[in-house]
Amino acid sequence: TKIAIFASGSGSNFAALEIACREGELDAEIVLVMTDKPASFVVERARQADIRAVALEQNAFPSKREFEEALIAILQEAGVEWIVLAGYMRLIGPTLLDAYPSRIVNIHPSLLPSFPGKDAIGQAIAHGVKVTGVTVHLVDEGMDTGPILAQAAVRVVEGNPEMTAQAIHAVEHVIYKEALQSLFTSEMKCKA
Ligand code: GRF
Repeated sequence: TKIAIFASGSGSNFAALEIACREGELDAEIVLVMTDKPASFVVERARQADIRAVALEQNAFPSKREFEEALIAILQEAGVEWIVLAGYMRLIGPTLLDAYPSRIVNIHPSLLPSFPGKDAIGQAIAHGVKVTGVTVHLVDEGMDTGPILAQAAVRVVEGNPEMTAQAIHAVEHVIYKEALQSLFTSEMKCKA
């Protein structure tokens, strides 16, 4: 299964998936990393892993539609079958959704539908929940709203946002590869 990872940040989820592919836990090939933030650390991580990094900024295009059309051309040319969002901070528009219907996956650091959007960990802590978690879901036109594929709960470490965030990221790095692996295997069974 050929996948593209979209990321705008540190890329720790990219790194976890890259290891999982290399070690045979995830039957997928990361053909490219796409970022809308050329300065993000994920670009350096992709370079280290010898994976092509594509940096495309939306504001270099007259519209979101044209930005996504340029992206689609690159993805199709590379044979990308699934798009895996890992800290990509931009809402996917109808153009890209139509090109990859039900083939875009996202990971979000909360138990959706609680705390969608930015800074989900901060939102959960500010709300005073005792348990939060991680959600892997298919992407639709909404913000963190698509069908849920997998979830895991993580206990909030009282008075320690850093440790809470660390615990959430550690769970992300396990649940994402597992959810993707079962998604890709069930797809292969359907095809067979
Ligand atoms: C993760 O918490 C992910 O759930 C969210 O953005 C963060 C990306 O972290 N969507 P990283 O760049 O993979 O380290």
